[in-house]
Amino acid sequence: RISSNVREGILVGCGNPLLDISAVVPMDFLQRYSMNEDDAILAEDRHMPIYGELVEGYNAEFLAGGSVQNSLRIAQWILRQPRVAVFFGCVGEDRYAQILKEKAQSAGLDVHYQVKRDVPTGTCAVLITGTHRSLCANLAAANNFTIDHLEEPSNKALVENAQYYYISGFFLTVNPPSIMRVAATAHAKQRPFLMNLSAPFISQFYMAPLLAVLPYVDIIFGNEAEAQAFAEAQSWPSGDLREIGKRLVAFNKLNPARPRIAILTQGCDPVLLFQQDSVQEFPVTKLAVHEIVDTNGAGDAFVGGFLSQFVQGKSLDVCIRCGNYAAGHIIKNPGCTYSGEPEFVE
Ligand code: AP5
Ligand code: NA
Repeated sequence: RISSNVREGILVGCGNPLLDISAVVPMDFLQRYSMNEDDAILAEDRHMPIYGELVEGYNAEFLAGGSVQNSLRIAQWILRQPRVAVFFGCVGEDRYAQILKEKAQSAGLDVHYQVKRDVPTGTCAVLITGTHRSLCANLAAANNFTIDHLEEPSNKALVENAQYYYISGFFLTVNPPSIMRVAATAHAKQRPFLMNLSAPFISQFYMAPLLAVLPYVDIIFGNEAEAQAFAEAQSWPSGDLREIGKRLVAFNKLNPARPRIAILTQGCDPVLLFQQDSVQEFPVTKLAVHEIVDTNGAGDAFVGGFLSQFVQGKSLDVCIRCGNYAAGHIIKNPGCTYSGEPEFVE
């Protein structure tokens, strides 16, 4: 099979490189830490014992994670051409960082980590209860990303040379100045800037930096819960996804020549594509229960599949269908991992 033919470094992403520590746990494990089945939270001091407990008592698996890095790995897998995507994030100087780097590089991703000595690489506890998963991220080194890293001449050149930019909402908790810098570069060069709402807590607690960057955002991704959290934080009257999507695309935009697009996933229900006044639905092929390993990383894989086509200049229709293909594939594999060769047909 021939690989795609896009140039190296066309896509730049920034995010939190996290090693996922994933295990099946009983409900009382969540209760002990006052967590809910489908949470995505940042670890506080009281959550710190979770990671050791998972490793010692629950036969935990280690998987490369971090939302943006997941998406870019999946995009690379589908593109079958190395180094199309460049990733920036901060890690420690330890074994976990090595694992993350190996996984990313073997997927073809061009990683340029900022390294913070004396701080451990970030981890994310993935607590699986039946078909639910609860996430607790201990950002650790990932939280130390600074804009100086993007100002290093070689990294600056990578940012300037890209044509597409993708950053998660999660990164708003780490370094808004870096996000604004990338967004401004994209804007100045009239290149698409894509972002993700990432988790309800972002809209609940990080609305100010989210609102600062939103005018630059050409495509915004989210799932149902994330869209609803945004709407609630804005005191929008309706929790209806169609209303929320329309308002998201109409929200303040810096470059009116490129109207905003919103793409909202809703699990096995159709993906909604919002453009100006139109809403389109893209059906999801439902998987049989026995085919589902875990849905962890489904949203990230959706974005990865989307990006793999978007950077090739494909239509939104193809991008979204590839997003659904990629998400469906990783659901059949543990965490945000893939197996075999990609089989997406346009
Ligand atoms: P997680 O939130 O689990 O991953 P996700 O990619 O967002 O996956 P979800 O299962 O939550 O999917 P979704 O609800 O977004 O999408 P939807 O269900 O609509 O997190 C994974 C990673 O996040 C971890 O690796 C972790 O490291 C990282 N992370 C956590 N905290 C972080 C932080 N602070 N900073 C950085 N990283 C952090 O589904 C999307 C698509 O999937 C659908 O459109 C469809 O195509 C498909 N799909 C879903 N369900 C089905 C189904 N039943 N059958 C068929 N297709 C399906
Ligand atoms: Na998600």
